[in-house]
Amino acid sequence: MSEVKRRDKNSKKPKGSSISRPDDERQNHTEFRLKTHWKYIAYVLTVVFTAAAIYLKVVYTEPRVATFAHADRQYQKQHVTIVCSDDYKRDTFTECKPKFCGRVVMDGIVTSEEVDHLLGVAKMGLSYGGSNGGASILDLHSGALSKGDKFISIYSAFPGGEGFKEEDFKIYRTVKNKIQQAIGDHFKVPLHALHLTKPTFFSRMNTSEAKNIHDEYWHPHVDRQTYGSFHYTSLLYLSTFNKDFTGGRFIFTDNGTETAVEPRAGRVSFFTSGSENVHFVEKLKSGVRYAITVSFTCDPEKAISDPDVV
Ligand SMILES: *[C@@H]1O[C@H](CO)[C@@H](O)[C@H](O)[C@H]1NC(C)=O
Ligand SMILES: *[C@@H]1O[C@H](CO)[C@@H](O)[C@H](O)[C@H]1NC(C)=O
Repeated sequence: MSEVKRRDKNSKKPKGSSISRPDDERQNHTEFRLKTHWKYIAYVLTVVFTAAAIYLKVVYTEPRVATFAHADRQYQKQHVTIVCSDDYKRDTFTECKPKFCGRVVMDGIVTSEEVDHLLGVAKMGLSYGGSNGGASILDLHSGALSKGDKFISIYSAFPGGEGFKEEDFKIYRTVKNKIQQAIGDHFKVPLHALHLTKPTFFSRMNTSEAKNIHDEYWHPHVDRQTYGSFHYTSLLYLSTFNKDFTGGRFIFTDNGTETAVEPRAGRVSFFTSGSENVHFVEKLKSGVRYAITVSFTCDPEKAISDPDVV
């Protein structure tokens, strides 16, 4: 193609020069340069304006993120009440189902000793497995542990009978009870009506690329739809945003605006599980992020018991 063009040009040249006089040719040349000059400017302007337009579009369509809880601050209780979705309308658990909805962050519930211990449990348990993708879970109740592309039973993963100690379960139960108490207090639910449910699990995220759907934690979702039985979702963070990892903030999405909870070791965050609380976790950019998801239901039939040594 270019070969043909070049030959065309060459064939035109002698033809043109044979018609025009030298003066004309100089003028044509200047005109040509002037034209090229304007073309060049037009081209540059087009590029600049297009780039600016794209930039502005990206900046202004990206939802603004308000920070509900900063990682470098401590909150005794940071909370907001929001209008409940219709998700609970058909529920019959009047004592327990949300009378109002909301989001709460509390930093003073779990001690740093408890956090350190549970982080050790998470690291030890997950060292027997680990997803190929960026998200691994360890469920002490079912014993499910991510390994490669699937889940295995943690209790078959300990070859020599080592593994979890009674102390591990004791601390886990203590922490779970504290969270349950905090949820009951805030949402005015008697504890006997609020039951632990599944899945309740440790999670570890790193920057490895997702290999399957279980690794993709960054899709906005509603816990009640994803897990069915949830009424109240809670998270206990075992590592800290901008210290142990970057990215990985917890984001509530509210009609185009976003509200972030920055994880902080020992921070408990809980919220009603219906579609008033659509959320996701941002993709991790660096480091490793540990957390525990502790879920509660009002449905006694969906209750699970505390895990114990097997
Ligand atoms: C993430 O964790 C998995 C194990 O779950 C491991 O195979 C992988 O190498 C880790 N990726 C990074 C970037 O550390
Ligand atoms: C989002 O918009 C819907 C419909 O307009 C409204 O019902 C809902 O309350 C809004 N949610 C929030 C969190 O503002």
